[in-house]
Amino acid sequence: MDAKNSILSLRGVKKQYEGAPIPAIEDITLDVGYGEIYGLVGENGAGKSTLIKTIAGAIGLTDGEIIYKGGKLICKSPAEAINKGIGVVYQEFNLFPNLTVYENIFFGIEIKKNGFLDRKQMIRKSQEILRQLGFELDVTKRVSALSPAYQQATEIAKCINHNVELMIMDEPSAPLTEKEVGKMFEVVRKLNQSGVTIIYISHKLNEIFDLTDRISVLRDGHLVHTFRTEEVTEQELIREMVGREITEIYPEKDFRSGEVILKVENLTGAKVHGVSFELKRGEVLGFGGLVGAGRTETMRLLFGADRKTGGTVYINDKKAEIDSPTDAIQNGIGLIPEDRKQQGLVLNKSIFFNCLLPSIGKYSRSGFIRFKEARSDIGKLYDILKVKAVNQGQLVSRLSGGNQQKVVLEKWLLRDCEILILDEPTRGIDVGTKQEIYQLIKDLAAQGKAVIVISSEMPELIGVSHRVIVMHEGKITGELKGDEITQETILTLAS
Ligand SMILES: Nc1ncnc2c1ncn2[C@@H]1O[C@H](COP(=O)(O)OP(=O)(O)OP(=O)(O)O)[C@@H](O)[C@H]1O
Ligand SMILES: [Mg+2]
Repeated sequence: MDAKNSILSLRGVKKQYEGAPIPAIEDITLDVGYGEIYGLVGENGAGKSTLIKTIAGAIGLTDGEIIYKGGKLICKSPAEAINKGIGVVYQEFNLFPNLTVYENIFFGIEIKKNGFLDRKQMIRKSQEILRQLGFELDVTKRVSALSPAYQQATEIAKCINHNVELMIMDEPSAPLTEKEVGKMFEVVRKLNQSGVTIIYISHKLNEIFDLTDRISVLRDGHLVHTFRTEEVTEQELIREMVGREITEIYPEKDFRSGEVILKVENLTGAKVHGVSFELKRGEVLGFGGLVGAGRTETMRLLFGADRKTGGTVYINDKKAEIDSPTDAIQNGIGLIPEDRKQQGLVLNKSIFFNCLLPSIGKYSRSGFIRFKEARSDIGKLYDILKVKAVNQGQLVSRLSGGNQQKVVLEKWLLRDCEILILDEPTRGIDVGTKQEIYQLIKDLAAQGKAVIVISSEMPELIGVSHRVIVMHEGKITGELKGDEITQETILTLAS
């Protein structure tokens, strides 16, 4: 591939954020061919999002140049980029939440009639595009009222409406259910067949292998290798990404049965119908099922985040009154929710501050906060999770998406909960850190704590759980132990 046959060429691209000690990306040279589906992979903080933000004009370059369709590309804003045919579906959605769906789709290219906005026509066209994508929705709704899948469809519709020739997608599958991912893939393939070039970023390597023609690996801000997809194995790709060999992602399971720490009887609430189960110390209990099976809802009831209409919870054989998250935390229960955006990271504060905040009590002695002890504990977790930052003092707003998630995990792990519930613990996290998180789960259990893991990734559920409870439509449909835990048995119970 050379610049002549390429829709997009990068030459020596470098970006150093203001105040950052080292560049986020440096010396990036690559060519994306017309009509290609080009994959971009790398660990959290490797520079993927930074790279595409430079292409899309969201941030400026420090050095280097970008050539688009044979000419030098200078975009000072995403709006300018999309008008030149470069659209981005961001990791963090980038729509105007207070505008309607059709206003977003027509942003900057509004249809006018006699000098006035032609709303009718824009609404009709927006509906048409979305319908072609397989989405029926009221396009006069505000974007903020939509589910993630519909927000994403709106972003894609916006790209289509602007006739983009290059569509860049930054972890588009992260907020979607499996079924929605399948649908998104169809859309991407259809667009590609109609001539649109795609750059696709994901931590889910199966998606990368499914979709792409070529894959570039970023490591620590440098492009370390570009492969033809059919010529590389998953092992090789992982080795390039993390710079070391990872053979076993899941640690060996060893479960020494302890006493029952949690007993849930007949838990009932919206979307949850009479759920009962027990959890022992030392155990990792997986919850399987299709998205929408009521697993998250069950845990929210247990945690006091939603109101239960019935059921009893026993902790260490004593009845526990849990009507709020505060009650749950006082009872030793921690919940790391799947939607970490709502998990309240204080973006303009440091990693240290964010981690310490909920654990201040733990580090206070007679009116003083033991900062040194906290710093040391936070530092240990920071190392294990491989948070990529300058140091603990770095503002959370300056972390990559995946590293922000790591801070949420860290914050909860610091609290020393006796019962820890993890809802989709590795979403958006790179493969090297996944391994560390699985080891951490194992260690917590080995210390006599009890862990509940909800995961839609079947290998993960099978890889970490001693026992799996499967749910369907708000009810438990079965329980699997040891060798019984397989993809087939879970799927049979799940549907
Ligand atoms: N606004 C910012 N100011 C300073 N540094 C930043 C800023 N945004 C990102 N960085 C740094 O740039 C580096 C690359 O971040 P980037 O978001 O591009 O990573 P990424 O590959 O997209 O990671 P992820 O998989 O976690 O999304 C990181 O070290 C990050 O801390
Ligand atoms: Mg990113």
